Amino acid sequence: MQVLIIGGGGREHALAWKLQASAQVDTVYCAPGNPNMRGVRCVDFEDHDQLAEFVKSQGIGLTVVGPEAPLCAGLVDVFRRRGLAVFGPNAAAARLEGSKSFAKDFMRRHGIPTAASAFCRTRAEAISYIRRQGAPIVVKADGLAAGKGVTVAETVDQAVAAVEMCFSGRFGAAGDAVVVEECLVGEEASIIALVDGRTILPLASSQDHKRIGENDTGSNTGGMGAYSPAPVVDDAMWEAIDRHVLKPFLRGCQEDGLDYRGVIYAGIIVTSEGPKVLEFNVRFGDPETQAILPRLQSDLAETLLATVEQRLENLTLQWAEDSAVCVVMAADGYPSDYRRGDIITGIGQAERQGALVFHAGTGKNQSGDTVTSGGRVLGVTGLDRSLPRAIEKTYAAVRQIDWSGAYYRRDIGRRGCQARND
Ligand code: AMP
Ligand code: GLY
Repeated sequence: MQVLIIGGGGREHALAWKLQASAQVDTVYCAPGNPNMRGVRCVDFEDHDQLAEFVKSQGIGLTVVGPEAPLCAGLVDVFRRRGLAVFGPNAAAARLEGSKSFAKDFMRRHGIPTAASAFCRTRAEAISYIRRQGAPIVVKADGLAAGKGVTVAETVDQAVAAVEMCFSGRFGAAGDAVVVEECLVGEEASIIALVDGRTILPLASSQDHKRIGENDTGSNTGGMGAYSPAPVVDDAMWEAIDRHVLKPFLRGCQEDGLDYRGVIYAGIIVTSEGPKVLEFNVRFGDPETQAILPRLQSDLAETLLATVEQRLENLTLQWAEDSAVCVVMAADGYPSDYRRGDIITGIGQAERQGALVFHAGTGKNQSGDTVTSGGRVLGVTGLDRSLPRAIEKTYAAVRQIDWSGAYYRRDIGRRGCQARND
């Protein structure tokens, strides 16, 4: 079978790598992909119709959508109209990520625990709500803002500044309305599950590290590293998540008539009242995928096809007992302005040590060197039989890689070691 992956970041590289390992897959295409994804054929198209034409003429048997933007823009709708097998929710269902207020309303109607919140269409409304509630409080741009539209404000002034920023147009139309919500406290985890409309099948748990600085300080980013499994999600927590989040999610999709055949990612926070949902994403997490997929022993192509064809009921997934850690290496300045074009060295050495190196913001210069071209540049994943050993192995590989201004957090996974006291 030939497969096509939409996207070109670290998550898509991990998907491509795992699909290449499938006995069913002979060719992996990626649009637009990255020239550093080994063995992957990169293609590029102007729009969804052209892409669908390509898939049809090439006889590609499965398309997997990585990022949220094409899902929200209706790529799946275009493909399904043409009878093509595509992994991902349609545009109506993708609003669960595309609109925070839509997601909040879905959670409220289907009894999924989440932070108390208010949807505000004007800055005056938002500011008056914030003044009534007091701080700490969380301000979120309603639409897609590449993971940067959320401010956890310690003071009322900070919250008001966040509202001003949203309405200033910085996030485009995404900031035309805001969700203001109660600030929850607890350990976070990423719960990513396959959904075929009839069955919901969770993948292994993981934890992301959203902030740029060590000990979870500084600005929010797309994610600076992840590990899997996350010890905070023990058996009792899985049961609570299944009962209060996953099952109600599936029931909610059925009751609302949402065509959901893809992956749902619930950002969970474990509060004293139990797990609550901070956000839904309608796609695989990045960098969680780079930590989860290396532990998956089952065939990914078969798993994704089973999702599209609504055969998940009969599927069980096999996981390696090992822990996996992915450390994101970023360009100097990220998540603000960052440099591009620096030559990266040491990737081969890191791979020879047994690490997996997933390309995100990289490219090639005219001499064929691998260079930086984005904020999050690489994800380096190591596996070992315990989390502390996986951390050690991953950082040994990370230290082999360098470019001018390379930055990475040195504490990825540490919280997981504290959680289980090893
Ligand atoms: P989101 O994109 O909605 O997941 O928000 C990004 C990050 O902001 C989350 O991973 C949390 O660390 C934090 N966050 C979001 N909502 C809340 C909340 N209600 N209370 C506390 N922290 C939050
Ligand atoms: N790692 C966070 C996300 O994928 O949204």
